Amino acid sequence: MSDAVTIDLPEADTTRALGAALAGVLRAGDLVILTGDLGAGKTTLTQGLGAALGIRGQVASPTFIVAREHPPLPREDGTRGPALVHVDAYRLGSLDELDALDLDSSLDESVTVVEWGRGLAEALTEDRLEIDLQRPRGGDVDTENPEAGTRHATLRAVGDRWAGVDLSALLPA
Ligand SMILES: Nc1ncnc2c1ncn2[C@@H]1O[C@H](COP(=O)(O)OP(=O)(O)OP(=O)(O)O)[C@@H](O)[C@H]1O
Ligand SMILES: [Mg+2]
Repeated sequence: MSDAVTIDLPEADTTRALGAALAGVLRAGDLVILTGDLGAGKTTLTQGLGAALGIRGQVASPTFIVAREHPPLPREDGTRGPALVHVDAYRLGSLDELDALDLDSSLDESVTVVEWGRGLAEALTEDRLEIDLQRPRGGDVDTENPEAGTRHATLRAVGDRWAGVDLSALLPA
């Protein structure tokens, strides 16, 4: 397991920018597991990633949809990047249900992001990037504006795929 890297996220745009920076390191076959309280910014981060990857459709909070596939849009030079598979495992009891979704893009062809995936999605691949998002809690919450306050992301990479990848390069300059 790599050393953990922690990043301050003062605003939603900082969280989106972290997602966008991830597009530079993620490639087809990669799995990202997002953990964090309700409203911590998991979907916001995925939106930044999706925008930077260049995919079809809007990354949204899937209320009744467990997984959404976003095919890659062609780039200016005609090539395409990986698809984005965005999974919300909140209501998912087991991985069998994920298998049962029968996604068109295989994991090999996609960057797969699983919200609430801890304890479930690890079985998909040996390698993964874990991102924990923490929002202010308890006495640190501004009662006037509970959505405000700096969040923090902790990134940890697991598996050979990530050997030699410097996650601190994702830190904003
Ligand atoms: N620093 C920040 N990072 C991310 N989101 C922020 C930040 N500050 C405020 N917000 C707001 O908090 C909300 C985060 O919602 P989001 O849907 O991304 O959370 P989530 O972790 O996906 O929640 P859920 O568990 O319901 O799926 C958004 O409305 C966003 O604009
Ligand atoms: Mg979400």
